[in-house]
Order: sequence, then C-alpha cells, then structure tokens
Amino acid sequence: MSSTSQDRCYAERAVIARALAADSPDERITVCGWVRTRRDAKDLSFLELNDGSCLANMQIIIDEDTPAHDSLARVNTGASVCVQGRLVESPGKGQRWEVRAHSLRLLGEADTAEFPLQKKRHSDEFLRGIAHLRPRTNKYGALFRIRSETAFAVHEYFRENGFFHVHTPVLTGSDCEGAGEMFRVTTLPVNAPVPDDGASACKGNPFAEDFFGRECKLTVSGQLEAENMAMGLGKVYTFGPAFRAENSNTPRHCAEFWMIEPEAAFADLLSNMDLAEDCVRQTVRRVLERCPQDMDLFNRHIDPSLIERLHKLVKEPFARISYSEAVDILRKSKRKFTFTPFFGTDLQSEHERFLAEEHFGGPVIVHDYPKDIKAFYMRLNDDGMTVAAMDLLAPRIGELAGGSQREERLDVLKQRLSELGQDAAHYRWYLELRCFGSVPHAGFGLGFERLLMLLTGASNIRDVIPFPRTPGNLEF
Ligand code: 4AD
Ligand code: MG
Repeated sequence: MSSTSQDRCYAERAVIARALAADSPDERITVCGWVRTRRDAKDLSFLELNDGSCLANMQIIIDEDTPAHDSLARVNTGASVCVQGRLVESPGKGQRWEVRAHSLRLLGEADTAEFPLQKKRHSDEFLRGIAHLRPRTNKYGALFRIRSETAFAVHEYFRENGFFHVHTPVLTGSDCEGAGEMFRVTTLPVNAPVPDDGASACKGNPFAEDFFGRECKLTVSGQLEAENMAMGLGKVYTFGPAFRAENSNTPRHCAEFWMIEPEAAFADLLSNMDLAEDCVRQTVRRVLERCPQDMDLFNRHIDPSLIERLHKLVKEPFARISYSEAVDILRKSKRKFTFTPFFGTDLQSEHERFLAEEHFGGPVIVHDYPKDIKAFYMRLNDDGMTVAAMDLLAPRIGELAGGSQREERLDVLKQRLSELGQDAAHYRWYLELRCFGSVPHAGFGLGFERLLMLLTGASNIRDVIPFPRTPGNLEF
C-alpha cells in the first residue's frame, strides 16, 4: 500500500454495515476490522472481517497474485487489518457482497497462542473475566448495539412526549431513597479518622475538613433534583448512573447502574402508570424494529420465545392491581414461598416473579403500597395507611420500574419525615418546593439494565452493562 493510499485509508473507510447494504458494486472500497476467521484454499485466502457496525461479517477474498497476499503471513483470528479492494457480488452462499482485496495492511497482530477468543462460543462467565474483549464477540457486539439503540429510543420517546432532558448531579448531599446504602466521596487522606456523623450535634461538623465541608455521597437516584426541575419546566427526565452500596450479589443488582427517571408536574399516580407502561412498550417496539439481526441472535441462542414475548408485550395492556390484591393472589396461590406474603411486608423477588410470570403471564403494575415499606416522598393516600406508589413487574426480571405520586403537601411531608426520624434541615430545598406553588406531581425510575435484560433475555445483569460493578469486582 503506498503512503498516500495509507493516508486516506481511514478517511475513505466504509463501515461494513453500510457496505453490506450497498445497491451496486464499487470499484474501490476500504474496510477495516478484526479478523473473525481465516481460511486458506489452494490459491485463495478468505477472511471474515467484522468492524462492530453490525452482526454480519464482510467476506474478504485474497488472491494469491495480489499485493494483499504478501501481507497475509501474520493475519490470524483477532488481528486487525485495513483492506482496500473491489466490492463485488458474492457468488458464494450467505452474503450478497464480498470484497476482492487488492491491498491489505496488518494494523495489529493477535498471537494465536494468547488471544482468548479462538472458539466460536464462550460461556458468559468466561467472557465476564475478559470484559475488555467481550465487545468483539457476536453476542456482546449485538448486546451493546442494542444497548445503544435502546438508550436512543428512550430519549426519543421522552422528547416526542414533551419531556426535557435534564442532568442531575452524581455528587450529592442527600439520600433520596433513605436506605443509607450510599458510597461516600471524600478527599480526606486515606488514613484520616473516619468522621462520625452521629456525633455531629455535639462535636460540630465532622466533615469540616472535607472538600465540600459536609458529607458527600454518590447519588442513588436523580429524583429529588428532577422534582426541582419539573417544578419549573413541567415535564423532565434524567438518564444517568446511580450507585448503590447494597451488598446484594444477585443477578439483578449492580453497584453502578443506569436509571431513567421522568418527573412530571400536574400528574398523579394514574398518569404515572400510563407513562411507565407506554414508555416501556414504545421503547421495546422501536428496538424490535431497528435491531432485527441483533435481536434475532438472542432469540436463536438465548431464548427462542423472546421475540414472540416482546411482540405480545408491545400489543397487550399491562395488568394493574393494588398491593392488597397482590397479597391476596399470593396467599391464595398455594405456592410455597420462602417468605410468606402478608399485608404490610414488602413483596420479595419470588412474589414479584410469581405475579408476572405465572399469574399474569406478562408485565403487571402493582400500586398503592403500605406507607411503612415505601420511601418518605410518596404521597399519602386518604386511608392514611397506603401511599400512591407503583412498581412495574416483568416476567424473569421482577421489578423493572418503581415510582409514585409525590407528597406535595408541606405539612404531610414534614410529618412523614419526623415519623421516620429524618432531619427536615437535610431536605430544605425539597420542602421549599412545597411552600411556593406546590403542585401534584409524579415520576418513576426505570432500571436501564433491567430493561435490557427484558429485551435480550439475559439472565444476569452483569452481561448487559459493559463494565459491571458488583461487590468485590472493580476491574479496569
Ligand atoms: O425502586 P428504586 O429504588 O426507585 C428509586 O430510586 C426512585 N427514586 C426512582 C424514582 O421514582 N425516580 O429504583 C428504580 C429502579 C428499580 O425499579 C430497578 O429497575 C432499578 O432502578 N434498580 C437497580 N438496577 C440495578 N441494580 C440495582 N442495584 C438497582 N436498584 C434499583
Ligand atoms: Mg423500588
């Protein structure tokens, strides 16, 4: 390859997804990618080249009498190459187009003895240990393209429905969920004595020497800030990372995950349920439409009923029941649960899955939970016992989204904080929103990784996020 053609190599590069969709041959094409397989025949070599733009590979044909052939020596599975040649109709089966190479440049070698992705299929566990190479496999390439398309579909959905995208902070001084499972952020030296926040009242501010002069944590949810924004912009959503230091090593929890959190002023529990249902349904519909090949891979290799189930989800309304109806169904089910359900206790994952998978055979929204098992900000119902909360439960996932109408009445909110022993001073801004033009409002949090588990049939959350963070795991 001459130096000038090398110089233009990347500028002229055609992504393989585009090249494979061409409607006519091309006398001059440049493709770059990673070699998936190499096969040598008598006077020809075949490379299957993938550049991540789609599931399909481009077949590259290298004739013995071309300059490309001279560079083939160290081109093995895993190596990266840049190929220039002609895009021609493929006489072989399985692809419409192939590239007849004129020149080939080896960009990066991959030692056959060392490169871990030699086999056609590897277990998810094995691939988790090499998360840096996972995107080079068919399955994870497909998964991360679906992840990207899903995020786009979510933004599109909210934009089309009049929601503004707002950015809420990652560093925060408040505990939205009140569960205390937060990561502390500090610039104090590692060996500084751990501040005792319990002692703050008598010893002054234990965080006085720290960066913000007060305690700082990683956010568990952007909700409280989203509420602030909704009280001026009307309808907003955040889509950002959330962090939870809960020590739960389950296939559905990560210490760092992404959450979509819409918040709407002039809205109640009913409109909130409608929004959650419509958002999930429209997002799934779009991903099915836009990622047919990638989705098909999951249908073929992970769950043969996946696509049919998703089409059903898009078409049929979700079931809706109150928490007390849910408890009744569970108690009458005669199923032996590890935790016996009774009114007043939180639904466990086994209960949620029973409702969605077996009883309703599809997504179900459970609403109006007892106040004692829900967060302080949920609006108290007139019965004084339940709150206007909702959880969206899905088969195989359990809780996909959770939200509520928010308590907009200052006196009720203050009363609730004091019942929970919370210091109202920590929620000054939140309380002030209730002093000046307070309005009924509602929102929810939809776990993005759980949505991807629903979409792909993946059974472990670690397999739908590029770099999973779970207790004891912080590779990279
Ligand atoms: O139910 P959660 O805790 O609700 C909130 O955080 C509210 N402040 C949201 C709101 O109303 N704006 O979390 C919401 C969703 C869950 O339904 C679940 O899908 C997901 O976030 N989620 C997790 N996903 C992965 N790993 C974890 N550790 C998760 N914790 C919650
Ligand atoms: Mg929840």
